Amino acid sequence: MTIGAGPGGPRVLVIEPMGNAGRFLVEAAERLGLRLYAATHKDVHEGYPDRLRAALAGVCATDLANAPRALDDMAAFCRQHAIEGVVGCFELFTPLAAHLAARVGLPGNDPRLAQAARNKILMGEAFAAAGIPAPRWTVVRDGAEAHRAVREAGWDWPLVVKPAEQGGSWGVSVVDGPDGLGPAVAAARQYTYARPHGLELDARALVQEYIAGEEYSCDTVVADGVAYPLPVVRKDTTAGRYRIETGHTCPSGLPEPLAAKVRHTAARAALAVGVRNGIAHTEVKIPPGTDTPYVIETGARLPGDNLCEVVEAATGVSEAVACLQAVLGRVPDTVATRTGAASIRFLLPERGGVLREVSIPQTPGTHGELHLRPGETVPEPADSACRIGHVVARAETAEQARALAGRVAAGSRVEVG
Ligand SMILES: Nc1ncnc2c1ncn2[C@@H]1O[C@H](COP(=O)(O)OP(=O)(O)O)[C@@H](O)[C@H]1O
Ligand SMILES: [Mg+2]
Repeated sequence: MTIGAGPGGPRVLVIEPMGNAGRFLVEAAERLGLRLYAATHKDVHEGYPDRLRAALAGVCATDLANAPRALDDMAAFCRQHAIEGVVGCFELFTPLAAHLAARVGLPGNDPRLAQAARNKILMGEAFAAAGIPAPRWTVVRDGAEAHRAVREAGWDWPLVVKPAEQGGSWGVSVVDGPDGLGPAVAAARQYTYARPHGLELDARALVQEYIAGEEYSCDTVVADGVAYPLPVVRKDTTAGRYRIETGHTCPSGLPEPLAAKVRHTAARAALAVGVRNGIAHTEVKIPPGTDTPYVIETGARLPGDNLCEVVEAATGVSEAVACLQAVLGRVPDTVATRTGAASIRFLLPERGGVLREVSIPQTPGTHGELHLRPGETVPEPADSACRIGHVVARAETAEQARALAGRVAAGSRVEVG
């Protein structure tokens, strides 16, 4: 697995490693003997956790919200430091990674399609062009336009309203009837800039048909245009207006012909948004009584939500290792070496407020982590920012792992005042 040793190893530039996947890239780079560099803003770099900062061989300080300037700075940095691979980590910057790789002649994604992995309007167009099953959608700028569009399309309720460019369920609403449509469009359109870089966002909203059924995710490593599907993961979410991911379990429990179809569809989605050297995280729902996975979204990046940990605990496959191998143009290690199971369950509050107390019981086969500390503000449970912590459980079967993580989460003490 090692493809270089210590200071002599190949050099990879990560565009904004501050999110959940950053820590897995750091670990993977250590295992592979790579030197990892980051491109970020200097103020954002100051807020990095110590472990991330210490793991970096160097930093390209630039303004990632200013694409032409960032591309010039990063291209100069790549030449100066003999960078051999470029990887996007933060979803909104994955198009930058594609453009940079093309500019400096490194393996990377198709820059002409890269924006489709960030913008759900372009993504919908890319899926339609490739014939990939996905919800029908329309673009709206305000409530009146949304009412008109829904009437003309003749769609039934519920419908889904979401921002063109966001993640973590921010601004996503499932709307039961006409009364909720205007407020949902306003909620989706509140995101005009993304923190912490001040990146300008496409503030249009999409109205989509609601796809019923169970939800799954499946990641795809792509190396030189060849897709290597990873295992399917079952996703749990809240019901009702806000769909927050509450947990993930690997393996998915889907029977193999259907799991294979999910892997195939996820790979098609990855290729449709131009992923050629890297990884994609794809989410699907399967309507009851059908065997057709509908793609909800795909991103040209490693998954968040500690999914790297869950998938590796269950299968032995390190998504971050495979992703780094792919961006270096190597054959990725994607063959499972283990047949276990793992599940993550998030601690969610019933309402927003100040976190008074939180504790996760210590239970064999599990470990917990807190995202918020007592005294901190817990946002309203409308998106994933409200998560207070999580529990990861390992077991022999998926049912056991999911039940164990659920039991520990249910036994956790969370007081919000
Ligand atoms: N068209 C849809 N039909 C049914 N559920 C949906 C649809 N779109 C989104 N959802 C639900 O909302 C969640 C968040 O939406 P998603 O498009 O994945 O946005 P984000 O980029 O914020 O994750 C999904 O995981 C899913 O549970
Ligand atoms: Mg999603």
